[in-house]
Amino acid sequence: MRTEVAIIGAGPAGLLLSHLLAQDGIESVVVEIRSAEYVASRIRAGVLEHSTVELLESVGLGERLRREGDEHRGIHLQWPEERHHIDFVDLTDRSVWIYGQTEVQKDLVAARASAGQEIHYEVTDTALHDLDTERPYVTFTDVDGVAQRLDADVVVGCDGSFGPSRGAVPDSVKQSWERVYPYSWLGILADVAPSTDELIYAWHPDGFAMHSMRSSTVSRLYLQVPNGTDVADWSDERIWDGLATRLGHGQDGWQLNPGPITEKSVLPMRSFVQTPMRHGRLFLAGDAAHIVPPTGAKGLNLAVADVAMLAPALAALLRKKDPTLADSYSDDALRRVWRCTHFSWWMTTMLHTSDDPFDAQLQLSQLRWVTSSEAGAAGLAENYAGLPIGF
Ligand code: FAD
Ligand code: PHB
Repeated sequence: MRTEVAIIGAGPAGLLLSHLLAQDGIESVVVEIRSAEYVASRIRAGVLEHSTVELLESVGLGERLRREGDEHRGIHLQWPEERHHIDFVDLTDRSVWIYGQTEVQKDLVAARASAGQEIHYEVTDTALHDLDTERPYVTFTDVDGVAQRLDADVVVGCDGSFGPSRGAVPDSVKQSWERVYPYSWLGILADVAPSTDELIYAWHPDGFAMHSMRSSTVSRLYLQVPNGTDVADWSDERIWDGLATRLGHGQDGWQLNPGPITEKSVLPMRSFVQTPMRHGRLFLAGDAAHIVPPTGAKGLNLAVADVAMLAPALAALLRKKDPTLADSYSDDALRRVWRCTHFSWWMTTMLHTSDDPFDAQLQLSQLRWVTSSEAGAAGLAENYAGLPIGF
């Protein structure tokens, strides 16, 4: 097989990149290790930044988002006895949208299907070759067990945190940074109307808790738990009790409505960045190059921003033989990556409790400042609602 751009991974980064490239008349083939059903049903991100929504809309992917998504002006930040609303629209004139990654993925799959995009699901043995030549290629075994070779002008690794692309950059070239946090999130999905209009991020001596949502009938909630937590130790009752305490059930008359839990999982938290995001004819985008803890709601948005920068760079390289944007892609993308890495770390360390009483006092002081000073609130709002792509 031969194509212009071989894309590894059919998550949001891979499918959006194929969509953006097609708009510039550039052909791509996508290979994906999982089944289409598995990729479509993975429960992950829920918050889209202002620029993500603008971009999706500008390329014909905003129609269902605008109809079924929910625009939020900001978030609630709280600690025992206090809840404060940070209004992003007042502070920065930018909002965020609640629209699950599952829905973004469905819209992308539908758009690519109607354009006749070639996507190979359920492949195995994906391997990258000759990346430092002008003729790179990818090999894999297809769903029928047939060995395939895909020749391309460029290979893009959109294969998330466990894919082979990041490892294809030679050790002599790559550098990585990592922070593993000493806690995880226990996440649930519940068939119950959200008990809040906008997301609540709560600091509590028992640990962080968050109330998010997917629709007017489905709630998504999280509890800080120790690393190594076994979901089996958390009965539905224990989860709802923990959420009620940490989210302040009864505080100023606010009620947390429990309901049937339909999904439970434990998510470890880490920050990771690998540089450069380009090596020869290999480009990395999304979680393949960087991971953030979910507290700042940045992972999906960063993946979108990467491919929004990469698509015009590849178009210039392949159509006009102009390498300028491709040469600066890694540095350009990494500026935003490090901004979001810092913001995600900052939100995470402000809100998750440890056994250290000194840290707790610093966190409470920071929360009071962020919620009472316009400068403090504006900093959070600007980062959360998201800086313009290319910042
Ligand atoms: P992925 O979605 O991981 O896609 C990579 C694809 O590559 C996968 O489909 C994978 O199967 C495929 N692949 C892997 N190996 C191979 C191989 N060998 N061959 C072929 N294909 C391969 N982000 C936000 O912005 N906001 C949020 O609110 C938010 N909340 C989150 C909550 C949770 C619980 C989790 C887990 C994540 C959250 N994130 C959030 C992060 C977000 O989900 C990710 O950053 C996003 O999925 C990254 O997209 P991606 O396309 O780069 O990677
Ligand atoms: C979610 O809805 O899953 C979600 C929202 C905000 C976050 C993380 C996850 O910061």
